[in-house]
Amino acid sequence: MKRKELLEIDSVDKAIVSWDVKEAFVKVAKTTDIPIGAMKHVEVEGTEILIANVKGKFYAVCDRCPHLNAMLSMGTLVDSIVTCPRHFSSFDVTTGKLSSGPNNLYLPVYTLKVEGSDLLVGI
Ligand code: FES
Repeated sequence: MKRKELLEIDSVDKAIVSWDVKEAFVKVAKTTDIPIGAMKHVEVEGTEILIANVKGKFYAVCDRCPHLNAMLSMGTLVDSIVTCPRHFSSFDVTTGKLSSGPNNLYLPVYTLKVEGSDLLVGI
């Protein structure tokens, strides 16, 4: 599956200067698989993704904590805030921003589309 095309090579020292990112959408679940307030772990081509249902709207973020790699879907979700089960950092699944915790990293966010009853993630 081709997702990214290298557009330009500036020099050997600075090999990659820009990318044209083309998302490929992959069906990962049904809307009925994830009730309001619930999370689901899915994998797409080896990438671990957390799908969260926040008040009927679905979001996709990386399912690995950027602190020390715990699986966030094993934690808790309250409104839009997922809390890591290991050291309790918390992140907003709608933005990927840190809410609280021992690091200042962001959680990668993926594009999510709803088509009928299917949830598709862009990766
Ligand atoms: S592994 Fe998640 S806060 Fe440390």
